[in-house]
Amino acid sequence: MTIAPDAAVSPRHAALLSWFGERRRDLPWRRTRDPWAVLVSELMLQQTQVPRVVPKYEAFVARWPTAASCASAPLGDVVTAWAGLGYNRRAVNLHRCAAALVADHGGALPTDLPALMALPGIGPYTARAVLAFAHERDDVGVLDTNAARVLARWAGRSLGRAEAQRAADEAVPPGQGWAWNQAMLDLGATVCRPRAPRCDQCPVSRSCAWSVAGRPGPDPAIGSAGGSTGQSTFAGSDRQGRGRLVDALRRAPVDAFDLPAAMGWPDDPARATRVAATLVADGLAQIDESGTHRLPA
Ligand code: ADE
Repeated sequence: MTIAPDAAVSPRHAALLSWFGERRRDLPWRRTRDPWAVLVSELMLQQTQVPRVVPKYEAFVARWPTAASCASAPLGDVVTAWAGLGYNRRAVNLHRCAAALVADHGGALPTDLPALMALPGIGPYTARAVLAFAHERDDVGVLDTNAARVLARWAGRSLGRAEAQRAADEAVPPGQGWAWNQAMLDLGATVCRPRAPRCDQCPVSRSCAWSVAGRPGPDPAIGSAGGSTGQSTFAGSDRQGRGRLVDALRRAPVDAFDLPAAMGWPDDPARATRVAATLVADGLAQIDESGTHRLPA
């Protein structure tokens, strides 16, 4: 759990680790090494901002402190607990993952990359985050959009996916995997921001090829692996209707007649039916023979 900048092997390592030691954001998932809690936090953080995640994460791990406790809860309860986080499919994935952990791993999280990635809903990012942040491995670079941006700017050119992952893995100093990877996320979120990066406040700008060159355009982070393509417009989207229906189902079942209004499309019942069917297909809702929708049992 300790951060020892002296164990760093290069000026960049020393500078970033000492910056992190002084400025690290105190976040609840950084006070634990419990793999299940880390998994929950990382899934929540994938598409939702930190301030919104904090209270949801705390409530979730208090209620379901283990994979087994989550797996034995009705999926509908997990979907209800997900309220306010958006992208509700993540709740279904987490519940499925909990069930697979119980069925195949005695309720524990595996400690190797292939076994983690074989779990439902776990991709390369989440698998590496569990290895680095729970198992404290120091041979994996956690590559999200923030880390990818930092690495591309350091390199001074855009990086392909495999290249970015290799650069992320190779950048980790021995024995410092936890702190280094958290520091990369903090640097990307607070200093090496997508627009208007704060190079004057960056502890490692002197070893950043892009910054040293005077930040010539185009920004190497643009078009790099992991670069954000941005979320598509929400207003008027199918996703908005899906979100509205899940919100309504958290309160009570919705019958067929009320579906279009619940989804915000009172004049388009065909669209409501079509989009509601995608929720059923994703496991987020169930429909009975009379057409009533409810959260899954
Ligand atoms: N975003 C994704 N993972 C994070 C973490 N562990 N801390 C802060 N922000 C994050």
